Parts: sequence; C-alpha cells; structure tokens
Amino acid sequence: MMQEIEIIDIPKIADPDGRGNLSVIEKEVLPFPIKRVYYLYDVPSSASRGGHAHIELQQCLIALSGSFEVVLDNGSERKIITLNKPNKALIIPNGIWRELENFSSGSVCLAVVSAEYAEEDYIRDYQDFLAFKRK
Ligand code: TYD
Repeated sequence: MMQEIEIIDIPKIADPDGRGNLSVIEKEVLPFPIKRVYYLYDVPSSASRGGHAHIELQQCLIALSGSFEVVLDNGSERKIITLNKPNKALIIPNGIWRELENFSSGSVCLAVVSAEYAEEDYIRDYQDFLAFKRK
C-alpha cells in the first residue's frame, strides 16, 4: 500500500566556492511530463490547503523554503510526510487524497504537475473520494 508515493532526491549542485546550492528538475527527474508549475506562499500556520484528490493528475511537491506537512490518504491508509528540504520532492500519484498543513512562517510549496488546470479532474469531497476508490 502507498508504495507509489515516494520521496525523490532532486540533484543538488553545491558551489565549490561556497556560493550556495542549485537544484534542477530536468524531465527525467520526475516520473511524468511537466505541464504546469504553481506555488503556495504566505499560508497562515493555521490554514489547511489541498483537501482533494485528482482523478488523473500526478504531482510533485517541494518545500522550496520552510516546512509543511502533507497528509496522504489512499482510501484505506493515512500517512503524514514532512517536507522541509528544497532538494527532496514528494511524488503524489493520481487517486490520493492530500491535505497540506502546519506551514512554517515564510514557507513556499512548489507544485510541479502533469496536467493543465481542470476542475473536472478534482475530487473535492472526501465521501466522493472513498466512493471513487471503491469503484
Ligand atoms: P485549490 O486547488 O482549491 O487550492 P489548494 O488545493 O492548494 O488549497 O485552488 C485554489 C483556487 O485557485 C481555486 O479557485 C482554483 C484556482 N486554481 C487555478 O485557477 N489554477 C491552478 O493551476 C490552481 C492550482 C488553482
């Protein structure tokens, strides 16, 4: 269960002269072709984002700055993953309910995803999600 959810390393290029790090996502880093990028920022620590699943869309989440927690639910199991490193990417396949919580001050969540925005691809009701998973 949940074996399809994974955390992958994004290549990190450390500067030999101490000028900091550079990470790059080229197309072979992710298990899907990149169609869209968006990001969450200025999220209050009390806020919950996500609260949906996707029928087809696959995505990758990265804490570009700060940290936040991702609650993942495949319809029968839940787990919580903390993201807090700019060179670690959480891969969320389609058919997984997710909630993003406990954003640290100044955190930025980058989402790199496999499809253009389409509201028809969202399941925004948890009971609908469970019914979808039972099909
Ligand atoms: P939503 O998916 O509800 O945010 P989250 O799941 O991160 O809490 O999106 C918030 C609003 O932004 C909603 O009205 C849809 C809109 N939106 C776009 O127009 N384009 C996009 O690419 C995304 C991700 C959201």
